[in-house]
Amino acid sequence: MHQVSLLKRLAAFALMAGLAGAAMAQDAVKVGLILPMTGPFASTGKQIEAAVKLYMQRNGASVAGKKIEVILKDDGGVADTTRRLAQELVVNDKVQFLAGFGLTPLALATAPIATQGKVPMIVMAAATSIITEQSPFIVRTSFTLPQVAIGIADWAAKNKIRKVVSLVSDYGPGIDAENAFKGRFTAAGGQMAAELRVPLANPDFAPFLQRVRDAAPDAVFVFVPSGVGASFAKQFVERGLDKSGIRLIGTGDVTDDDILNRMGDVTLGVITSHHYSAAHPSAVNRAFVDAFTKAAQMRPNFMAVGGYDGMHLIYKSLEATKGATGGEALLAAMKGMSWESPRGPVSIDPQTRDIIQNVYIRKVEKSGDQLYNVEFDTIPMVKDPVKAAKP
Ligand code: PHB
Repeated sequence: MHQVSLLKRLAAFALMAGLAGAAMAQDAVKVGLILPMTGPFASTGKQIEAAVKLYMQRNGASVAGKKIEVILKDDGGVADTTRRLAQELVVNDKVQFLAGFGLTPLALATAPIATQGKVPMIVMAAATSIITEQSPFIVRTSFTLPQVAIGIADWAAKNKIRKVVSLVSDYGPGIDAENAFKGRFTAAGGQMAAELRVPLANPDFAPFLQRVRDAAPDAVFVFVPSGVGASFAKQFVERGLDKSGIRLIGTGDVTDDDILNRMGDVTLGVITSHHYSAAHPSAVNRAFVDAFTKAAQMRPNFMAVGGYDGMHLIYKSLEATKGATGGEALLAAMKGMSWESPRGPVSIDPQTRDIIQNVYIRKVEKSGDQLYNVEFDTIPMVKDPVKAAKP
């Protein structure tokens, strides 16, 4: 009699332990974070990784009763590697989110995997307009080049700049930046003297800068991806362009906060348009910059903010679904979501799944011994203009 009840109790205990184990496994939500942690774009990976860590440090490692487990993978900035890693994360690790994507080709390579697996894919960095159209499961927390480039085109047209040469990295975001700038600037009466495209890999800017010089425009409009601005600025000075009277303007990628101090005084007075500056004067941003700088020993740039807001979107969508992880339910929760980011007010466009945000016009200024992109004008709540123009 006693024997039987003991066995029964043991069996019941084993069953409970088993259930608890299963529940614990279910209670973890896995985020596959794929970033270039090595190679020429490692600065983007490091900024985003630090931002993801900071978000979890400030908001806790669980949400809606689920523990958040981030699995970081380094793709080295190579699209075939990104695709393979994404496949493994979905099939073997059974991640409920894919996130990261430091460059456009890496995001494009992963889009079909998000669609097949119905896995929300949070694009925290890559910024070519077409990306969100490649899968209904993509949501973007970075920006698009056309979204930010039209700000500087308007500023140039209104500030006595009549003739411009554009100089962009020769791939998706560069071509988007060139088209958006040219369309807006020429519509306002400006003239493009030349449109130059520089190879993305190991760029030698010297011959292109010579062509800028020869064309003698009022300004050169530049897009290079985050991290590349330093070598561009070095060659700009070496070629004497800083003393030529040709103004340097661009999207804020070229005066990236992470490297701005290393670029030096050649950047003083450079006007750019972008969605984020470490100098953005809000309480939310000051707290973010302080915490980030303490935790990561570097200044956050716009890539960090894309990563931070991407985590916010993951947390808030899980809160909305009460911890349920189906891709369709999570996407529905993300569409239309709005919050105050360190960059200012933002929302997710329910139609395009792009981020709607302020675009700021900024000027590089010195404060103490530090260079900053100081915002002096705001274009409120800008949508990606390429998609807005589509029927
Ligand atoms: C991109 O590859 O989409 C990209 C990378 C870095 C940037 C902007 C766009 O600063």
